[in-house]
Amino acid sequence: MSKRVYIETFGCQMNAVDSARMLSLLEAVDYRATGSIADADLVLLNTCVIREKADQKFRSALGHLRRWKKARGGRLVAVGGCLAQQKGTSLSDKAPHVDIVFGTHNIARLPELVRRAEERRPSVEVDFTGDTSHWDVLPYLAEGAASAMVTIMQGCDNYCAYCIVPYVRGREISRPSAEILDEIRSLADRGVREVILLGQNVNSYGKKEGEISFSALLRRIARVPGIARIRFLTVHARDLDSETIGLFEEVATLCPHIHLPIQAGSDRILSAMGRGYTREEYLKKVHALRRARPGIAFSSDFIVGFPGEEEADFRNTLSVMEEVRYDSCFSFRFSPRPGTRAAAMASIVPAETASERLYRLQSLQDRHTRMRLAACVGEEMEVLVEGASARDSARLSGRTRCYKVVNFSPDAARQEPFRLVRIRSAGAHSLSGAEGGLHD
Ligand code: SAH
Ligand code: SF4
Ligand code: F3S
Repeated sequence: MSKRVYIETFGCQMNAVDSARMLSLLEAVDYRATGSIADADLVLLNTCVIREKADQKFRSALGHLRRWKKARGGRLVAVGGCLAQQKGTSLSDKAPHVDIVFGTHNIARLPELVRRAEERRPSVEVDFTGDTSHWDVLPYLAEGAASAMVTIMQGCDNYCAYCIVPYVRGREISRPSAEILDEIRSLADRGVREVILLGQNVNSYGKKEGEISFSALLRRIARVPGIARIRFLTVHARDLDSETIGLFEEVATLCPHIHLPIQAGSDRILSAMGRGYTREEYLKKVHALRRARPGIAFSSDFIVGFPGEEEADFRNTLSVMEEVRYDSCFSFRFSPRPGTRAAAMASIVPAETASERLYRLQSLQDRHTRMRLAACVGEEMEVLVEGASARDSARLSGRTRCYKVVNFSPDAARQEPFRLVRIRSAGAHSLSGAEGGLHD
């Protein structure tokens, strides 16, 4: 009988796509996924260290696994991802119930590590080898999935002052374009209609390797039959070039949404962060994108309370938000990450000040989000179905081309992944509607 693995993903999309690869690798050695820890023989925690909160969540999950492991003989605990990379052997030294520790460059070794752990042999591998052999593993894809994430690069060379990613994911490496295209063709054959291309800085795709440019790659992907929607993340505002901006005009299947993190609206803070662009340069790119694709939706990431951030700097962040009116945002309190430049910076912003700023920023964003959602009411929008709606299983949930969540009453006769939905109302975070003239 097959063994069961329960995988918990703590991090970003790169982390999630790695989890999907780990599952494919484990299926090949006769493990099956389970959604229940109680049924599992192996629990795999795919960790993140981007902010302290991610660390805390992991520690609490790991604590619970001590009892879980004792409850039945032969159970195994594996820790992978960015925290495993950072902590290495010290992780299993401090938590002896951890059987397997593997880093971000050792993913392909997972089946071998599990086998060794089953034989009670040491199973820790966190060498930063630059290994990318896991790229050959097709991430696990649920039956009937219409959307898939595709890795185009790993690592990051930017060393933004606050960020731990380059230390735990290593140097930037781009994946050969032929492999990316093969993967997308095979996904399309399996019924995938939307691909989300993943990298920390997609605009520097292929530069080191002498590969084709990001724009050229995107044009080739756009020619793969069956792929009706293309998205990519993350774009670094410094490296976003006019050719890529032009793609929004040229390539119809490129979705009208871009995640373009600004982090802060003050030039002084942007410079201290080492982002390499000014507020004006960023805004110029926003305007150019709007010219290339009128109505394009924007989302961003923000950090508040970066060392040295004064009230006046923070107001610049609010004013940039007023100028762009983002459709949605992720915002975070600065979290010092050991080993990064920002962790050693003076002029720490008191926690209460940072929390208060975060609250003000999020209140403003909530207003903008509502405004952007309200503007969709009355429109008929193409929705790519993702599954049943969380609140009402008679309804479906999916996303518009501009990445807004829509819950809708379906026309029962239809099965296809794309639906035309009339938007009837807008909430705080999503839209609601009905397909084919049905009433909501
Ligand atoms: N490569 C992407 C970001 C990946 S990390 C980019 O450059 O835009 C995702 C987000 O986490 C970042 O955009 C940033 O807003 C946030 N983040 C990263 N390090 C952080 C830290 N030390 N404290 C708070 N937020 C952080
Ligand atoms: Fe981190 Fe900056 Fe790289 Fe993004 S670009 S992953 S924020 S170092
Ligand atoms: Fe992603 Fe977290 Fe690692 S955000 S790259 S999983 S530190």
